[in-house]
Amino acid sequence: MTYHAEYSKSVETPETFWAEKAANLPWFKQPEQILSKDRNGMDRWFADGEMNTAYMALDYHVENGRADQPAVIYDSPVADTKRTLTYREMRDQVALFAGVLKAQGVEKGDRVVIYMPMVPEALIAMYAVARLGAIHSVVFGGFAPHELAVRIEDAEPKVIVTASCGIEVSKVIEYKPMLDEAIEQAVHKPDACIVLQRPQALAKLVEGRDLDWADAVAAAEPADCVPVKGTDPLYILYTSGTTGKPKGVVRDNGGHATALHYSMKAIYNIEPGDVFLAASDVGWVVGHSYIVYAPLLAGATTIVYEGKPVRTPDAGAFWRLCEEYKIKALFAAPTAFRAIKKEDPEGLEIGKYDLSNLEIIFMAGERLDPPTYHWTIEKTGKPVIDHWWQTETGWAICGNLMGIEAKEPKPGSATLPTPGFNVQILDSEGNELPAGEQGAIAIKLPLPPSCLPTIWNNHERFRAGYLSDFPGYYTSGDGGYKDEDGYVFIMGRTDDVINVAGHRLSTGEMEEIVADHPAVAECAVIGINDTLKGQAPVGLVLLKDGVDIDEEQLEKELIARVRKEIGPIACFNKAMVVQRLPKTRSGKILRKLMRQIADGQEYTVPSTIDDPSSLLEIEALMDERGLMQRS
Ligand code: COA
Ligand code: AMP
Repeated sequence: MTYHAEYSKSVETPETFWAEKAANLPWFKQPEQILSKDRNGMDRWFADGEMNTAYMALDYHVENGRADQPAVIYDSPVADTKRTLTYREMRDQVALFAGVLKAQGVEKGDRVVIYMPMVPEALIAMYAVARLGAIHSVVFGGFAPHELAVRIEDAEPKVIVTASCGIEVSKVIEYKPMLDEAIEQAVHKPDACIVLQRPQALAKLVEGRDLDWADAVAAAEPADCVPVKGTDPLYILYTSGTTGKPKGVVRDNGGHATALHYSMKAIYNIEPGDVFLAASDVGWVVGHSYIVYAPLLAGATTIVYEGKPVRTPDAGAFWRLCEEYKIKALFAAPTAFRAIKKEDPEGLEIGKYDLSNLEIIFMAGERLDPPTYHWTIEKTGKPVIDHWWQTETGWAICGNLMGIEAKEPKPGSATLPTPGFNVQILDSEGNELPAGEQGAIAIKLPLPPSCLPTIWNNHERFRAGYLSDFPGYYTSGDGGYKDEDGYVFIMGRTDDVINVAGHRLSTGEMEEIVADHPAVAECAVIGINDTLKGQAPVGLVLLKDGVDIDEEQLEKELIARVRKEIGPIACFNKAMVVQRLPKTRSGKILRKLMRQIADGQEYTVPSTIDDPSSLLEIEALMDERGLMQRS
């Protein structure tokens, strides 16, 4: 099978293509309606199919010869623990925990928020929710109570599942007080919270509301899989947009299972029984798709790694995992490899381990810079595949299909569109641009299975944010171009979303927090290049007239505010006072220009600028603060 044949079929006859892929999964009732419209006029996949994602990923494999195969391998250097759960054990624990949720009144369509670190119980909780046909919303543990509260408010969960703590290298982060604070802040209150007690920090339970995970499971009856429609939601995952309010990306059960199952072989070349490591976190889309769901849908083994690429204990962490568990493919964000490269530039740790089972390294989540790409290939001797995707799609929009036909890679490119994604580069009028010309990267409708059909509770935001710029296309928010061979080059976001250590964050949200400080009249937060984390936010602040405040003190206060409101992962560590913010005459802050200045890029001063000398001031200030040309 060639890439070309596969791709052409997917865009020319999408219904036939995806009907065939869906038929590889064990539906309770195979879908006959492959592509249809919902009441919002959106394209939907497999509307009349009946299924259960937990059944497809667990029970089916137990019933078909994989009961004793490891499904989940938990490896935690920070908790000094290793544990293997077979498919049978996973199914049984999921069924029991589903029983716990059912006893708390969770039914099909109800929401359950999960705020947990990288422990197997996070996967058990997610699958248990899926088993009941309910909808989970996992919140990343690095988010502060306010962010959690915003998500609780929007998702309105009946139950929240958490753990007493997470462990960041050697720091124990207590989750329960943060959850209590978030519940306090949110108007919506859950009926119950279920708390996994970890020995590193025991949480205080609230009488009448909180249950101890172990006690609840001990008293539970296993619950059966509840059939859902292909278009019933499996989960909501909040992601950063351009405003302070995160967007609840909705994922369907049927399209998700079909696309992910297909992707394991097509993109990652993973067969049943193979071992796959996605070194991400269950709180991100990579974790949802490639730690939790896809490997098990495919009958493979997934690694749940609670640790960092470095410091737990050293830069050999990934390589140790690869040797110990005979990992066939490893997937992580480029920032992880930059961290490894920084600590072990010669790759000496790599030589200490047997990497003979490791066939391919995949990277995504942010731009893969050529030095990291070349270093990883040179030091590991393995092919490195860059692939581009978003929370909204749930799987790769572009990549190099290792299970279909490996193409010659080009550094800086995420290779070719994945089957199902009709990727086009558009100008501002919505015209398709020829090879070599840069524009907005858009996907011609219909989007393939697994892509979001809406934003939770806010279809208008979905329509306005993704579908209204170019009728008939989904706007990705990224800019880039295709070359003569059709290879796609992603050049970065065209909006105010930034990527810090592979984490997607909104500068708009940070601006709202900074601007709320009593001394601040106006501000801009921009993402500038950072050698380790890809991008880092920097705040430029204009003081209110007459305010007399020590600048260092103000910076400290602003850092503390962002950390308190968003969380430590915002990495907002720099703010500086400016006399003027560069603006157009109509008052629009020229953020992109400031970013270009900081990154040492060539820039053109727009004719609409109000006061060109404001740029020189920004340049001098950034230079003084050592922020220039950090790429
Ligand atoms: N819970 C609580 N706090 C967390 C957290 C979590 N799950 N994850 C990160 N944090 C905290 C960190 O402890 C750190 O806090 P500090 O400022 O008090 O030190 C802060 O958030 C910033 O974290 P991070 O950006 O991860 O920096 P780091 O120095 O701890 O680690 C890397 C740097 C590169 C090793 C790390 O970012 C990494 O492994 N990145 C990979 C990203 C990834 O997997 N992305 C998923 C998309 S594929
Ligand atoms: P998230 O939704 O958190 O996965 O972030 C998605 C965004 O990350 C995309 O819109 C891109 O801006 C960026 N991104 C993801 N993968 C890549 C990649 N391979 N190359 C460049 N940018 C990427």
